[in-house]
Amino acid sequence: MSTIDVRLADRSYQVVVEPGLRSQCGERLRQLVDFRPGRSVLLIADESVAETFAEDVAASIEAAGFGLAFGTVEADETNKSLPAFSALLEAAAREHIDRSSVVVAVGGGIVGDLAGFVAASWLRGIPLLHVPTTLLAMVDASIGGKTGVNLPLPDNTLGKNLVGAFWQPLGVLADPEVLSSLPRRELACGLAECVKHGMISDWSMLEQLAGIAPAILEAGVPECTELIRRSAAVKAAIVGHDEREETGAGQGAARAWLNLGHTFAHAIENVPELGLKHGEAVAIGLVAAGACARSLGSWTQSECDHLREVLLACELPVRLSSKLPAEDLVERMGWDKKVRDGTLTIVVPDGRGSVRLHEGPERGLLLEGWAEVGAS
Ligand SMILES: NC(=O)c1ccc[n+]([C@@H]2O[C@H](COP(=O)([O-])OP(=O)(O)OC[C@H]3O[C@@H](n4cnc5c(N)ncnc54)[C@H](O)[C@@H]3O)[C@@H](O)[C@H]2O)c1
Repeated sequence: MSTIDVRLADRSYQVVVEPGLRSQCGERLRQLVDFRPGRSVLLIADESVAETFAEDVAASIEAAGFGLAFGTVEADETNKSLPAFSALLEAAAREHIDRSSVVVAVGGGIVGDLAGFVAASWLRGIPLLHVPTTLLAMVDASIGGKTGVNLPLPDNTLGKNLVGAFWQPLGVLADPEVLSSLPRRELACGLAECVKHGMISDWSMLEQLAGIAPAILEAGVPECTELIRRSAAVKAAIVGHDEREETGAGQGAARAWLNLGHTFAHAIENVPELGLKHGEAVAIGLVAAGACARSLGSWTQSECDHLREVLLACELPVRLSSKLPAEDLVERMGWDKKVRDGTLTIVVPDGRGSVRLHEGPERGLLLEGWAEVGAS
């Protein structure tokens, strides 16, 4: 069993990684709360795992003596919405979920963000337990307390995560066995975030990834446990330093570091002709960020080449599949919601296993990043 501490004073908690953990969720929850008979759980499950792993979680929660209400959500970005949020709040009312109840989120990042927001909002906040079922949610989305939903914008695009709250869970219980049914492409998307974490502060994990990625994609579980622990530890450490993304350039570990590759990714992930999933867009964004670092003198060609090799071993794209005008992509980066006071900040590698914030990048630098991934 591996545990990782997320150190946030009185809101500290642990991420536990252990094969088979889903069947111990009830017992673990009893240890995390002051258990009394009658205490109830609202379990919100991803439809994809509702009849398999979420059933195991539900059975263990009932066996531990909790009352149980069970709801499901189809994991689709359009469902990470205010109407779905509202329907879950109505279910909470119907099921008499009270201040001592616990929301248990069983699913990927979509269900985790949505159920987390329900926990943050119902009766102004009730306890939350995350049981992530995707690699991305295990190493990233379930850690750090960001919850929320998307909002349709006037131009008919989806404003990602525009409404939400910081709400830290009681704990995160990650059972790598549940990844056995995760589609290969989703596993690869989780690996993209592991590569990102390696670039931020664990270069040796990144180096190992090229070797172990094929086995993880093929067989999943056994090879994954240590990777989840190390990758989750990177996120946990950063969150412990800067819970609310308030640390700026030159001030030490900043939650904004986790945006490495993402400022580029956001410009391409909703372009229909590319058909990219988030993790795939991040992979391309990491390559672009690496090229910017090379241009700034903080990375060499050999690091850029190594990154490409690792991403390819993870079955992730490193180039755009169709030539898009780089000028348009730079324009789209300006829409990123992380733009503050009209200034864009990108994250660039700064040596092996370290990064820094680069505020107000010159247009030429961004064009260079896009050229590296095949923009015209
Ligand atoms: N809160 C945060 O800090 C944070 C960080 C990163 C990403 N996110 C959010 O996370 C979301 C993406 O999360 P994700 O990549 O986990 O995607 P997801 O939740 O969409 O899950 C991916 C797909 O896998 C299915 N699935 C989930 N578990 C499965 C399993 N064990 N077996 C088979 N199928 C399974 C889902 O039904 C879905 O179709 C985005 O909405 C993103 O904004 C949040």
